[in-house]
Amino acid sequence: MFNDLIIYQIYPRSFKDSNNDGIGDLKGIIEKIPYLAELGINAIWMSPIYASPNDDNGYDVSDYYSIMNEFGTMEDFDLLKKTCDKYNIKIIMDLVMNHTSDEHKWFKEARKSKDNPYSDYYIFVDNHNKEPNNWESCFGGSAWEYVKERDQFYLHLFSKKQPDLNWDNPKMRKELYQMIQFWIDKGVQGFRIDAISYLKKPEGFPNSPFEEDKFGHAKCMKFIAGNLKTHQYIKEMCETLFIDKNIFTVGEVTATSDEDIKQYVLKDNHEFSAIIPFVPPIVEIHQNKPIDLKKRIFKMYDLIKDQGYIANFLSNHDKPRQVSLYGNDQEYLKDSSKALASLMHTLPGIPFIYQGEEIGMSNVYYENIEDYNDLDTLNIYHKSIKEGKSKEEAFKLAQIISRDNARSPMQWDDSLNAGFSSCSPWLKVNPNYKDINVKQQIGDPDSVLNYYKKSIHLRKNNPCLLYGDLKEVKTSDDVISFTRTYQNKIVLVIISLTSKELPYDFNFKENDILLTNKEFKKGVLLPYQALIVNLKTGK
Ligand code: NOJ
Ligand code: CA
Repeated sequence: MFNDLIIYQIYPRSFKDSNNDGIGDLKGIIEKIPYLAELGINAIWMSPIYASPNDDNGYDVSDYYSIMNEFGTMEDFDLLKKTCDKYNIKIIMDLVMNHTSDEHKWFKEARKSKDNPYSDYYIFVDNHNKEPNNWESCFGGSAWEYVKERDQFYLHLFSKKQPDLNWDNPKMRKELYQMIQFWIDKGVQGFRIDAISYLKKPEGFPNSPFEEDKFGHAKCMKFIAGNLKTHQYIKEMCETLFIDKNIFTVGEVTATSDEDIKQYVLKDNHEFSAIIPFVPPIVEIHQNKPIDLKKRIFKMYDLIKDQGYIANFLSNHDKPRQVSLYGNDQEYLKDSSKALASLMHTLPGIPFIYQGEEIGMSNVYYENIEDYNDLDTLNIYHKSIKEGKSKEEAFKLAQIISRDNARSPMQWDDSLNAGFSSCSPWLKVNPNYKDINVKQQIGDPDSVLNYYKKSIHLRKNNPCLLYGDLKEVKTSDDVISFTRTYQNKIVLVIISLTSKELPYDFNFKENDILLTNKEFKKGVLLPYQALIVNLKTGK
Protein backbone atom coordinates (compact mmCIF):
# COMPACT_ATOMS: atom_id res chain seq x y z
CA MET A 1 0.00 0.00 0.00
CA PHE A 2 2.82 2.42 0.83
CA ASN A 3 5.59 0.79 -1.25
CA ASP A 4 5.87 3.66 -3.67
CA LEU A 5 6.33 6.40 -1.05
CA ILE A 6 9.49 8.47 -1.25
CA ILE A 7 9.49 10.85 1.68
CA TYR A 8 11.43 14.11 1.91
CA GLN A 9 11.91 15.49 5.41
CA ILE A 10 11.71 19.24 5.77
CA TYR A 11 13.05 21.04 8.83
CA PRO A 12 10.89 24.12 8.24
CA ARG A 13 13.04 26.53 10.23
CA SER A 14 15.95 25.92 7.88
CA PHE A 15 14.35 25.21 4.53
CA LYS A 16 13.45 28.53 2.90
CA ASP A 17 12.72 31.96 4.38
CA SER A 18 10.11 33.79 2.29
CA ASN A 19 9.85 37.04 4.26
CA ASN A 20 13.49 37.54 5.15
CA ASP A 21 13.30 37.41 8.94
CA GLY A 22 16.02 34.74 9.00
CA ILE A 23 13.60 31.89 9.74
CA GLY A 24 12.23 29.39 7.23
CA ASP A 25 8.45 29.33 6.83
CA LEU A 26 5.46 27.75 5.08
CA LYS A 27 5.48 30.19 2.18
CA GLY A 28 9.11 29.25 1.63
CA ILE A 29 8.12 25.60 1.47
CA ILE A 30 5.32 26.40 -0.99
CA GLU A 31 7.83 28.19 -3.21
CA LYS A 32 10.00 25.07 -3.35
CA ILE A 33 7.32 22.44 -3.98
CA PRO A 34 8.02 22.45 -7.75
CA TYR A 35 11.71 21.77 -6.94
CA LEU A 36 10.69 18.79 -4.80
CA ALA A 37 8.30 17.48 -7.45
CA GLU A 38 11.12 17.67 -9.97
CA LEU A 39 13.36 15.70 -7.60
CA GLY A 40 10.76 12.93 -7.77
CA ILE A 41 9.62 12.62 -4.15
CA ASN A 42 5.93 12.09 -3.44
CA ALA A 43 5.55 12.99 0.24
CA ILE A 44 6.92 15.61 2.61
CA TRP A 45 7.27 15.15 6.34
CA MET A 46 7.61 18.47 8.10
CA SER A 47 9.12 18.67 11.56
CA PRO A 48 6.53 20.35 13.84
CA ILE A 49 4.89 23.51 12.54
CA TYR A 50 2.48 24.07 15.46
CA ALA A 51 2.58 27.07 17.81
CA SER A 52 5.60 26.70 20.06
CA PRO A 53 7.93 28.78 22.22
CA ASN A 54 10.76 26.84 20.53
CA ASP A 55 12.63 25.56 23.53
CA ASP A 56 13.19 22.41 21.43
CA ASN A 57 12.42 23.98 18.04
CA GLY A 58 8.77 23.02 17.76
CA TYR A 59 8.96 19.70 19.62
CA ASP A 60 7.41 21.69 22.48
CA VAL A 61 3.90 22.41 21.24
CA SER A 62 1.86 25.16 22.91
CA ASP A 63 -1.17 24.86 20.61
CA TYR A 64 -1.79 21.92 18.28
CA TYR A 65 -4.51 23.79 16.43
CA SER A 66 -2.48 26.74 15.21
CA ILE A 67 0.62 27.36 13.14
CA MET A 68 3.79 28.75 14.72
CA ASN A 69 3.78 32.53 14.18
CA GLU A 70 7.23 32.52 12.62
CA PHE A 71 6.12 29.87 10.10
CA GLY A 72 2.94 31.65 8.97
CA THR A 73 -0.79 31.08 9.29
CA MET A 74 -3.43 28.40 8.81
CA GLU A 75 -4.20 30.01 5.44
CA ASP A 76 -0.58 29.36 4.46
CA PHE A 77 -1.01 25.74 5.51
CA ASP A 78 -4.15 25.40 3.40
CA LEU A 79 -2.30 26.84 0.42
CA LEU A 80 0.58 24.45 1.02
CA LYS A 81 -1.89 21.54 1.00
CA LYS A 82 -3.43 22.77 -2.23
CA THR A 83 -0.02 23.15 -3.84
CA CYS A 84 1.05 19.68 -2.71
CA ASP A 85 -2.18 18.21 -4.09
CA LYS A 86 -1.45 19.81 -7.42
CA TYR A 87 1.93 18.10 -7.55
CA ASN A 88 0.70 14.78 -6.09
CA ILE A 89 2.77 15.20 -2.98
CA LYS A 90 1.38 13.88 0.31
CA ILE A 91 1.73 15.78 3.58
CA ILE A 92 3.01 13.96 6.65
CA MET A 93 2.77 15.93 9.88
CA ASP A 94 4.90 15.45 12.97
CA LEU A 95 2.85 14.61 16.05
CA VAL A 96 4.40 15.32 19.44
CA MET A 97 2.26 13.67 22.06
CA ASN A 98 4.53 12.34 24.75
CA HIS A 99 4.71 15.90 26.05
CA THR A 100 3.56 19.44 25.33
CA SER A 101 5.19 22.78 26.00
CA ASP A 102 4.87 24.11 29.54
CA GLU A 103 3.21 27.05 27.77
CA HIS A 104 0.35 24.89 26.50
CA LYS A 105 -2.91 26.02 28.12
CA TRP A 106 -3.42 22.54 29.62
CA PHE A 107 -0.15 22.79 31.52
CA LYS A 108 -0.63 26.41 32.51
CA GLU A 109 -3.90 25.36 34.16
CA ALA A 110 -2.61 22.05 35.50
CA ARG A 111 0.26 23.62 37.40
CA LYS A 112 -2.05 26.01 39.27
CA SER A 113 -3.78 23.49 41.54
CA LYS A 114 -4.63 19.85 42.15
CA ASP A 115 -8.30 20.38 41.42
CA ASN A 116 -8.82 21.99 38.07
CA PRO A 117 -10.03 20.28 34.89
CA TYR A 118 -6.47 19.79 33.62
CA SER A 119 -4.76 18.73 36.83
CA ASP A 120 -4.54 15.10 35.67
CA TYR A 121 -3.36 15.85 32.15
CA TYR A 122 0.29 15.64 33.24
CA ILE A 123 2.31 13.54 35.65
CA PHE A 124 2.59 15.19 39.06
CA VAL A 125 3.98 13.30 42.03
CA ASP A 126 4.01 14.15 45.75
CA ASN A 127 7.43 14.22 47.27
CA HIS A 128 8.31 17.20 49.34
CA ASN A 129 11.80 18.59 48.89
CA LYS A 130 13.22 15.67 46.96
CA GLU A 131 12.87 14.32 43.40
CA PRO A 132 10.66 11.21 43.40
CA ASN A 133 13.33 8.98 41.81
CA ASN A 134 16.64 8.89 39.91
CA TRP A 135 15.24 9.48 36.41
CA GLU A 136 17.21 11.87 34.27
CA SER A 137 15.99 14.01 31.43
CA CYS A 138 17.31 13.26 27.94
CA PHE A 139 18.62 16.79 27.80
CA GLY A 140 20.45 16.59 31.13
CA GLY A 141 19.66 16.96 34.83
CA SER A 142 16.77 15.49 36.77
CA ALA A 143 13.58 14.58 34.92
CA TRP A 144 11.56 16.18 37.75
CA GLU A 145 10.69 19.81 38.35
CA TYR A 146 9.12 21.18 41.50
CA VAL A 147 5.92 23.25 41.35
CA LYS A 148 5.28 25.31 44.42
CA GLU A 149 1.56 25.86 43.85
CA ARG A 150 0.93 22.10 44.00
CA ASP A 151 3.84 21.20 46.26
CA GLN A 152 4.57 18.43 43.76
CA PHE A 153 7.08 17.51 41.08
CA TYR A 154 6.12 17.10 37.44
CA LEU A 155 7.86 14.72 35.06
CA HIS A 156 9.71 15.85 31.93
CA LEU A 157 11.71 13.19 30.09
CA PHE A 158 12.95 15.95 27.77
CA SER A 159 13.55 19.60 28.74
CA LYS A 160 11.76 21.09 31.72
CA LYS A 161 9.71 23.09 29.24
CA GLN A 162 8.38 19.76 27.86
CA PRO A 163 6.18 18.26 30.61
CA ASP A 164 5.08 14.66 29.94
CA LEU A 165 1.40 14.07 29.29
CA ASN A 166 -0.51 11.57 31.39
CA TRP A 167 -1.70 8.89 28.94
CA ASP A 168 -3.48 7.04 31.74
CA ASN A 169 -6.07 9.81 31.60
CA PRO A 170 -8.74 8.82 29.01
CA LYS A 171 -10.04 12.40 28.79
CA MET A 172 -6.61 13.64 27.78
CA ARG A 173 -6.23 10.86 25.20
CA LYS A 174 -9.60 11.74 23.73
CA GLU A 175 -8.56 15.36 23.33
CA LEU A 176 -5.39 14.29 21.50
CA TYR A 177 -7.39 12.05 19.18
CA GLN A 178 -9.75 14.92 18.38
CA MET A 179 -6.76 17.06 17.54
CA ILE A 180 -5.40 14.38 15.17
CA GLN A 181 -8.81 14.14 13.52
CA PHE A 182 -8.70 17.90 12.93
CA TRP A 183 -5.54 17.43 10.82
CA ILE A 184 -6.96 14.38 9.03
CA ASP A 185 -9.98 16.50 8.12
CA LYS A 186 -7.56 19.05 6.68
CA GLY A 187 -6.37 16.35 4.31
CA VAL A 188 -3.11 15.30 5.96
CA GLN A 189 -2.20 11.81 4.65
CA GLY A 190 0.30 10.63 7.22
CA PHE A 191 1.95 11.23 10.58
CA ARG A 192 5.42 10.85 12.00
CA ILE A 193 4.86 10.29 15.68
CA ASP A 194 7.47 11.58 18.07
CA ALA A 195 9.01 9.86 21.11
CA ILE A 196 6.17 7.37 21.25
CA SER A 197 7.81 4.63 23.33
CA TYR A 198 7.47 6.35 26.66
CA LEU A 199 3.71 6.88 26.99
CA LYS A 200 3.23 4.65 30.03
CA LYS A 201 5.61 5.21 32.92
CA PRO A 202 6.33 2.26 35.21
CA GLU A 203 3.72 2.02 37.97
CA GLY A 204 4.84 3.68 41.23
CA PHE A 205 7.76 5.48 39.50
CA PRO A 206 10.54 3.17 40.78
CA ASN A 207 14.19 4.10 40.43
CA SER A 208 15.71 3.04 37.14
CA PRO A 209 18.17 0.20 37.73
CA PHE A 210 20.07 1.14 34.57
CA GLU A 211 23.43 2.77 34.97
CA GLU A 212 24.34 5.39 32.41
CA ASP A 213 26.25 3.48 29.75
CA LYS A 214 29.61 4.57 28.42
CA PHE A 215 27.97 6.51 25.62
CA GLY A 216 25.83 8.57 27.97
CA HIS A 217 22.30 7.23 27.47
CA ALA A 218 19.94 8.96 29.87
CA LYS A 219 19.46 6.49 32.70
CA CYS A 220 15.76 5.95 32.54
CA MET A 221 14.81 5.96 28.85
CA LYS A 222 15.30 2.27 28.09
CA PHE A 223 13.76 1.44 31.45
CA ILE A 224 10.58 3.31 30.58
CA ALA A 225 10.36 2.45 26.88
CA GLY A 226 8.21 -0.31 25.44
CA ASN A 227 5.80 -0.88 28.35
CA LEU A 228 2.91 -3.17 27.35
CA LYS A 229 0.47 -0.43 28.29
CA THR A 230 2.30 1.91 25.89
CA HIS A 231 1.63 -0.57 23.10
CA GLN A 232 -2.04 -0.69 24.15
CA TYR A 233 -2.33 3.08 23.96
CA ILE A 234 -0.69 3.13 20.53
CA LYS A 235 -3.09 0.45 19.33
CA GLU A 236 -6.07 2.37 20.68
CA MET A 237 -4.93 5.52 18.89
CA CYS A 238 -4.16 3.76 15.60
CA GLU A 239 -7.41 1.78 15.57
CA THR A 240 -9.40 4.92 16.35
CA LEU A 241 -7.73 7.07 13.71
CA PHE A 242 -5.53 5.39 11.14
CA ILE A 243 -6.01 1.69 10.49
CA ASP A 244 -8.06 0.92 7.37
CA LYS A 245 -8.05 4.57 6.40
CA ASN A 246 -4.97 4.54 4.22
CA ILE A 247 -3.17 6.90 6.58
CA PHE A 248 0.56 6.30 6.79
CA THR A 249 2.13 6.33 10.25
CA VAL A 250 5.75 6.15 11.25
CA GLY A 251 6.59 6.01 14.92
CA GLU A 252 9.87 7.24 16.32
CA VAL A 253 10.67 4.49 18.79
CA THR A 254 13.24 3.47 21.33
CA ALA A 255 13.42 -0.27 20.81
CA THR A 256 14.10 -2.38 23.87
CA SER A 257 14.27 -5.78 22.12
CA ASP A 258 13.58 -7.50 18.81
CA GLU A 259 10.16 -8.52 20.11
CA ASP A 260 9.44 -4.93 21.03
CA ILE A 261 10.35 -3.73 17.52
CA LYS A 262 7.96 -6.23 16.02
CA GLN A 263 5.11 -5.15 18.28
CA TYR A 264 5.15 -1.69 16.68
CA VAL A 265 4.73 -2.90 13.10
CA LEU A 266 3.26 -6.41 12.94
CA LYS A 267 0.16 -6.12 10.77
CA ASP A 268 -2.20 -7.83 13.20
CA ASN A 269 -1.09 -5.59 16.02
CA HIS A 270 -2.68 -2.50 14.50
CA GLU A 271 0.09 -0.15 15.48
CA PHE A 272 2.30 1.72 12.94
CA SER A 273 3.01 1.32 9.22
CA ALA A 274 6.74 1.89 9.84
CA ILE A 275 9.17 2.82 12.59
CA ILE A 276 12.17 5.06 12.96
CA PRO A 277 14.33 3.51 15.66
CA PHE A 278 16.01 6.26 17.66
CA VAL A 279 19.74 5.79 18.22
CA PRO A 280 21.44 8.66 20.09
CA PRO A 281 24.08 10.26 17.82
CA ILE A 282 26.64 9.78 20.54
CA VAL A 283 26.08 6.03 20.14
CA GLU A 284 25.84 6.09 16.36
CA ILE A 285 29.16 7.85 15.82
CA HIS A 286 30.77 4.74 17.27
CA GLN A 287 28.71 2.43 15.08
CA ASN A 288 29.12 4.04 11.68
CA LYS A 289 31.27 1.50 9.86
CA PRO A 290 29.82 -0.17 6.75
CA ILE A 291 29.72 -3.43 8.68
CA ASP A 292 27.55 -1.85 11.41
CA LEU A 293 25.20 -0.45 8.82
CA LYS A 294 25.05 -3.77 7.03
CA LYS A 295 24.18 -5.67 10.20
CA ARG A 296 21.39 -3.24 11.05
CA ILE A 297 19.90 -3.35 7.54
CA PHE A 298 19.68 -7.12 7.25
CA LYS A 299 18.59 -7.59 10.84
CA MET A 300 15.73 -5.13 10.46
CA TYR A 301 14.65 -6.82 7.25
CA ASP A 302 14.57 -10.23 8.91
CA LEU A 303 12.53 -8.83 11.77
CA ILE A 304 9.79 -7.04 9.94
CA LYS A 305 9.69 -8.12 6.27
CA ASP A 306 6.15 -8.82 5.01
CA GLN A 307 4.79 -7.01 8.04
CA GLY A 308 5.70 -3.36 8.38
CA TYR A 309 7.60 -1.01 6.12
CA ILE A 310 11.23 -0.29 6.86
CA ALA A 311 12.07 3.40 7.10
CA ASN A 312 15.32 3.82 5.18
CA PHE A 313 17.03 6.92 6.46
CA LEU A 314 20.59 7.85 7.26
CA SER A 315 20.06 11.46 8.31
CA ASN A 316 17.44 13.50 10.03
CA HIS A 317 17.22 16.60 12.22
CA ASP A 318 18.58 14.65 15.22
CA LYS A 319 21.67 13.24 13.57
CA PRO A 320 24.86 14.35 11.89
CA ARG A 321 24.70 14.60 8.09
CA GLN A 322 24.76 11.18 6.43
CA VAL A 323 27.76 11.87 4.25
CA SER A 324 29.77 12.94 7.31
CA LEU A 325 28.62 9.94 9.32
CA TYR A 326 28.74 7.09 6.79
CA GLY A 327 30.57 8.59 3.82
CA ASN A 328 33.62 10.78 3.41
CA ASP A 329 32.80 14.49 3.52
CA GLN A 330 36.27 15.53 2.38
CA GLU A 331 37.84 14.07 -0.77
CA TYR A 332 34.92 11.75 -1.62
CA LEU A 333 31.99 13.98 -0.76
CA LYS A 334 30.36 13.65 -4.14
CA ASP A 335 31.06 9.96 -4.68
CA SER A 336 30.06 8.91 -1.20
CA SER A 337 26.87 11.03 -1.28
CA LYS A 338 25.91 9.18 -4.43
CA ALA A 339 26.84 5.80 -2.98
CA LEU A 340 24.59 6.42 0.02
CA ALA A 341 21.79 7.60 -2.27
CA SER A 342 22.12 4.31 -4.17
CA LEU A 343 21.72 2.40 -0.93
CA MET A 344 18.63 4.30 0.20
CA HIS A 345 16.84 3.87 -3.10
CA THR A 346 17.54 0.19 -3.65
CA LEU A 347 16.60 -1.22 -0.26
CA PRO A 348 13.11 -2.51 0.53
CA GLY A 349 10.98 -0.10 2.55
CA ILE A 350 10.51 3.62 2.26
CA PRO A 351 13.33 6.06 1.50
CA PHE A 352 13.42 9.12 3.76
CA ILE A 353 15.54 11.87 2.22
CA TYR A 354 16.55 14.58 4.66
CA GLN A 355 16.67 18.10 3.22
CA GLY A 356 20.01 18.99 1.69
CA GLU A 357 21.16 15.40 1.50
CA GLU A 358 20.26 15.43 -2.19
CA ILE A 359 23.04 17.95 -2.85
CA GLY A 360 25.55 16.38 -0.48
CA MET A 361 25.26 18.86 2.38
CA SER A 362 27.72 17.93 5.11
CA ASN A 363 28.30 18.67 8.82
CA VAL A 364 28.80 22.35 9.69
CA TYR A 365 31.63 22.32 12.27
CA TYR A 366 31.01 25.88 13.57
CA GLU A 367 34.02 27.55 15.15
CA ASN A 368 32.53 28.60 18.50
CA ILE A 369 30.15 27.00 20.94
CA GLU A 370 28.12 30.25 20.78
CA ASP A 371 27.31 29.44 17.14
CA TYR A 372 25.32 26.38 18.23
CA ASN A 373 21.62 26.66 19.03
CA ASP A 374 20.54 23.11 19.90
CA LEU A 375 19.88 22.54 23.60
CA ASP A 376 21.14 18.96 23.37
CA THR A 377 24.50 20.09 21.96
CA LEU A 378 24.92 22.72 24.67
CA ASN A 379 24.00 20.20 27.33
CA ILE A 380 26.56 17.66 26.09
CA TYR A 381 29.23 20.36 25.92
CA HIS A 382 28.67 21.56 29.50
CA LYS A 383 28.25 18.03 30.84
CA SER A 384 31.54 16.95 29.27
CA ILE A 385 33.37 19.85 30.89
CA LYS A 386 31.80 19.03 34.25
CA GLU A 387 33.01 15.46 33.86
CA GLY A 388 36.59 16.65 33.43
CA LYS A 389 37.06 17.03 29.66
CA SER A 390 38.98 20.11 28.50
CA LYS A 391 37.02 22.83 26.70
CA GLU A 392 38.67 21.78 23.43
CA GLU A 393 37.73 18.12 23.85
CA ALA A 394 34.18 19.00 24.84
CA PHE A 395 33.84 21.29 21.85
CA LYS A 396 35.16 18.68 19.46
CA LEU A 397 32.57 16.19 20.67
CA ALA A 398 29.80 18.79 20.41
CA GLN A 399 30.85 19.55 16.83
CA ILE A 400 30.65 15.92 15.76
CA ILE A 401 27.37 14.95 17.36
CA SER A 402 25.50 18.25 17.20
CA ARG A 403 21.98 18.14 15.83
CA ASP A 404 22.73 21.55 14.31
CA ASN A 405 24.88 19.74 11.73
CA ALA A 406 21.66 18.80 10.00
CA ARG A 407 19.83 22.00 10.87
CA SER A 408 21.99 24.60 9.13
CA PRO A 409 20.04 26.42 6.40
CA MET A 410 19.37 24.77 3.07
CA GLN A 411 21.91 25.79 0.43
CA TRP A 412 19.93 27.07 -2.55
CA ASP A 413 22.59 29.09 -4.40
CA ASP A 414 25.91 30.86 -3.93
CA SER A 415 24.46 34.27 -3.04
CA LEU A 416 24.45 35.76 0.46
CA ASN A 417 23.27 33.24 3.10
CA ALA A 418 23.09 30.54 0.43
CA GLY A 419 19.87 32.02 -0.94
CA PHE A 420 18.03 30.83 2.18
CA SER A 421 17.28 34.36 3.37
CA SER A 422 18.55 37.83 2.63
CA CYS A 423 18.89 38.52 6.34
CA SER A 424 21.12 36.82 8.84
CA PRO A 425 19.64 33.31 9.46
CA TRP A 426 18.73 31.93 12.91
CA LEU A 427 21.60 29.44 12.48
CA LYS A 428 24.70 30.16 10.41
CA VAL A 429 24.96 28.66 6.93
CA ASN A 430 27.67 26.15 6.19
CA PRO A 431 30.55 28.10 4.57
CA ASN A 432 30.79 25.40 1.88
CA TYR A 433 27.58 26.75 0.25
CA LYS A 434 29.56 28.52 -2.46
CA ASP A 435 30.52 25.10 -3.85
CA ILE A 436 27.58 23.01 -2.70
CA ASN A 437 24.21 24.44 -3.65
CA VAL A 438 21.09 23.56 -5.60
CA LYS A 439 21.50 26.13 -8.34
CA GLN A 440 24.94 24.92 -9.34
CA GLN A 441 23.88 21.28 -9.25
CA ILE A 442 20.74 21.64 -11.32
CA GLY A 443 22.84 22.46 -14.35
CA ASP A 444 25.55 19.86 -13.78
CA PRO A 445 24.63 16.42 -15.18
CA ASP A 446 27.20 14.78 -12.92
CA SER A 447 25.93 16.43 -9.70
CA VAL A 448 24.71 14.65 -6.59
CA LEU A 449 21.30 16.22 -7.20
CA ASN A 450 20.99 14.74 -10.65
CA TYR A 451 22.14 11.38 -9.33
CA TYR A 452 19.35 11.51 -6.72
CA LYS A 453 16.87 12.20 -9.49
CA LYS A 454 18.16 9.23 -11.46
CA SER A 455 18.07 6.86 -8.49
CA ILE A 456 14.55 7.96 -7.52
CA HIS A 457 13.39 7.50 -11.08
CA LEU A 458 14.96 4.06 -11.22
CA ARG A 459 13.30 2.99 -7.98
CA LYS A 460 9.87 4.19 -9.03
CA ASN A 461 10.05 2.31 -12.31
CA ASN A 462 11.67 -0.93 -11.26
CA PRO A 463 9.33 -3.48 -9.61
CA CYS A 464 12.32 -5.37 -8.15
CA LEU A 465 13.34 -2.27 -6.22
CA LEU A 466 9.79 -1.56 -5.10
CA TYR A 467 8.60 -5.05 -4.22
CA GLY A 468 11.51 -7.48 -4.47
CA ASP A 469 12.72 -9.77 -1.71
CA LEU A 470 16.06 -8.87 -0.21
CA LYS A 471 18.96 -11.27 0.02
CA GLU A 472 22.39 -10.38 1.31
CA VAL A 473 25.35 -11.15 -0.92
CA LYS A 474 28.34 -11.85 1.30
CA THR A 475 31.33 -9.76 0.39
CA SER A 476 34.01 -7.63 2.02
CA ASP A 477 33.27 -5.73 5.26
CA ASP A 478 33.37 -2.37 3.51
CA VAL A 479 30.91 -3.29 0.79
CA ILE A 480 27.15 -3.65 1.12
CA SER A 481 25.75 -5.98 -1.48
CA PHE A 482 22.38 -7.63 -2.01
CA THR A 483 19.88 -8.79 -4.58
CA ARG A 484 16.26 -7.76 -4.95
CA THR A 485 14.16 -10.45 -6.60
CA TYR A 486 10.66 -10.09 -7.95
CA GLN A 487 8.80 -12.38 -10.35
CA ASN A 488 11.91 -13.98 -11.86
CA LYS A 489 13.72 -10.68 -12.22
CA ILE A 490 16.79 -9.91 -10.19
CA VAL A 491 18.60 -6.66 -9.48
CA LEU A 492 22.04 -6.85 -7.94
CA VAL A 493 23.30 -3.94 -5.84
CA ILE A 494 26.94 -3.45 -4.88
CA ILE A 495 27.95 -0.43 -2.82
CA SER A 496 31.47 0.24 -1.69
CA LEU A 497 31.77 2.47 1.36
CA THR A 498 35.53 2.85 1.45
CA SER A 499 38.11 5.09 -0.15
CA LYS A 500 40.14 2.03 -1.14
CA GLU A 501 39.87 0.27 -4.48
CA LEU A 502 38.61 -3.28 -4.07
CA PRO A 503 38.48 -6.27 -6.39
CA TYR A 504 35.15 -8.02 -6.98
CA ASP A 505 34.19 -11.21 -8.73
CA PHE A 506 30.59 -10.64 -9.73
CA ASN A 507 29.81 -11.67 -13.24
CA PHE A 508 27.85 -9.21 -15.35
CA LYS A 509 28.28 -7.11 -18.44
CA GLU A 510 28.61 -3.37 -18.64
CA ASN A 511 25.38 -3.26 -20.62
CA ASP A 512 23.47 -4.68 -17.69
CA ILE A 513 24.31 -1.76 -15.42
CA LEU A 514 21.19 0.23 -14.58
CA LEU A 515 23.03 2.92 -12.65
CA THR A 516 26.51 3.65 -11.38
CA ASN A 517 28.16 6.72 -9.94
CA LYS A 518 31.60 6.12 -11.50
CA GLU A 519 33.17 4.78 -14.63
CA PHE A 520 32.93 0.99 -14.96
CA LYS A 521 36.15 -0.95 -14.61
CA LYS A 522 35.67 -4.69 -14.86
CA GLY A 523 36.73 -6.54 -11.72
CA VAL A 524 37.41 -3.39 -9.68
CA LEU A 525 35.23 -1.40 -7.33
CA LEU A 526 36.45 2.18 -7.29
CA PRO A 527 36.28 4.19 -4.03
CA TYR A 528 32.63 4.66 -3.04
CA GLN A 529 31.43 3.07 -6.21
CA ALA A 530 27.81 1.96 -6.44
CA LEU A 531 26.65 -0.49 -9.09
CA ILE A 532 23.02 -1.33 -9.68
CA VAL A 533 22.80 -4.17 -12.15
CA ASN A 534 20.12 -6.10 -13.98
CA LEU A 535 20.96 -9.79 -13.58
CA LYS A 536 19.98 -12.07 -16.40
CA THR A 537 17.85 -14.91 -15.05
CA GLY A 538 17.90 -17.02 -18.17
CA LYS A 539 14.10 -17.03 -18.32
C1 NOJ B 1 12.54 13.34 19.01
C2 NOJ B 1 12.67 14.50 18.08
O1 NOJ B 1 13.04 14.04 16.81
C3 NOJ B 1 13.68 15.43 18.70
O2 NOJ B 1 14.09 16.46 17.83
C4 NOJ B 1 13.08 15.98 19.97
O3 NOJ B 1 14.05 16.75 20.64
C5 NOJ B 1 12.61 14.86 20.90
N1 NOJ B 1 11.95 13.79 20.23
C6 NOJ B 1 11.65 15.40 21.93
O4 NOJ B 1 10.42 15.71 21.35
CA1 CA C 1 10.52 33.76 7.52
